[in-house]
Amino acid sequence: MNLYEEVIPYLLKWYEYNARVLPWREDPSPYHVWVSEIMLQQTRVEAVRGYYMRFLDELPDLKSLAACPDDRLMKLWEGLGYYSRARNLKKAAQAVCEQYGGKLPDSADGLRKLPGIGDYTAGAIASIAYAKPEPAVDGNVLRVFSRITGSREDITVPEVKRNMAAELKAVMPGAESGKLNQAIMDLGATICVPNGAPHCEECPVMHLCRAFHDGTVSEIPVKAAPKARRVEQRTVFVIECKGGIVLHKRPSKGLLAGLWEYPNVSGYVKRKEMAEVIREMLRLPETNPDRRPGQVSENSGNEGSDDAQITVSGRLPDAKHIFTHIEWQMRVYKVKAEGIESLPEDYIVVTDEEMRANYSVPSAFAGIKRE
Ligand code: ADE
Repeated sequence: MNLYEEVIPYLLKWYEYNARVLPWREDPSPYHVWVSEIMLQQTRVEAVRGYYMRFLDELPDLKSLAACPDDRLMKLWEGLGYYSRARNLKKAAQAVCEQYGGKLPDSADGLRKLPGIGDYTAGAIASIAYAKPEPAVDGNVLRVFSRITGSREDITVPEVKRNMAAELKAVMPGAESGKLNQAIMDLGATICVPNGAPHCEECPVMHLCRAFHDGTVSEIPVKAAPKARRVEQRTVFVIECKGGIVLHKRPSKGLLAGLWEYPNVSGYVKRKEMAEVIREMLRLPETNPDRRPGQVSENSGNEGSDDAQITVSGRLPDAKHIFTHIEWQMRVYKVKAEGIESLPEDYIVVTDEEMRANYSVPSAFAGIKRE
């Protein structure tokens, strides 16, 4: 018997008494498990709880998710970040409705074909919702088993993960595989923790753990240092005008695709150039130095917005947002815009109330103080 196999009965027994009470465990239907696993991919359990309940209240089944308007879906996801997860969830729900008669595939291979479902999530759904003997190897599992086996292999190397998945797959305990996967998740979250000293004295497999035996728990797992993030400077404009505040819809591809944002540009813009940059962004006609404000020009291409006045009224506190590979360092300015009659179609003006209720402004902009 190898170590992987040896620890299983202890982990299952421990889980019986120590499983965390989590909303998605109450009725682990494929849809529930799927939604929870996608939310949990990059987000802590405690943060997910509330989102999960709210999401299911509004989208109780796969069909309602497939039919959910994009802006509403983004609103439900607001604050969770990594919005492509939500977009893939809906795309997958639509594919399941169209190609699989509304039922999520019950095999890991079938699940992996859907957008947003990789090896880990396919294994989690197949084992927890369908009782299939599939492993679900994420960072927690890599940490726990690297310590148990005393492995000093770099867990950021895909092959190390593949090998661990193969070791586990060979010993998964049949219909109890979902329990085992969740036992490892819970052990990794509460005892064999990633930050700070693990609570080895409470661990059900301490007596089998190589790293504990060798005193190397603090050195394992071994992880290559992550690549440094690219720092990007941006200038953000909180533009107030008649009727509310100006929001911009980001392009449908790339970072924060399709989400609403405070209008912003790359780089730090000089104060005296700001009004012109904003005019250009909102596609307002250039200011005519020969014309006083309010004076009407004869042949403007943008009727009605010709008299627009852009005034930068002050600087707001700087803000920062860290993405996986990029860090935005934002200088924020408050702007008053008067006389704007129309805006390009990727811009809107919303009241605070509308913004709260209907428009999902990603957490990248949440740190921005408007006053
Ligand atoms: N982390 C990822 N998936 C989880 C689950 N099903 N239960 C607890 N923590 C998790």
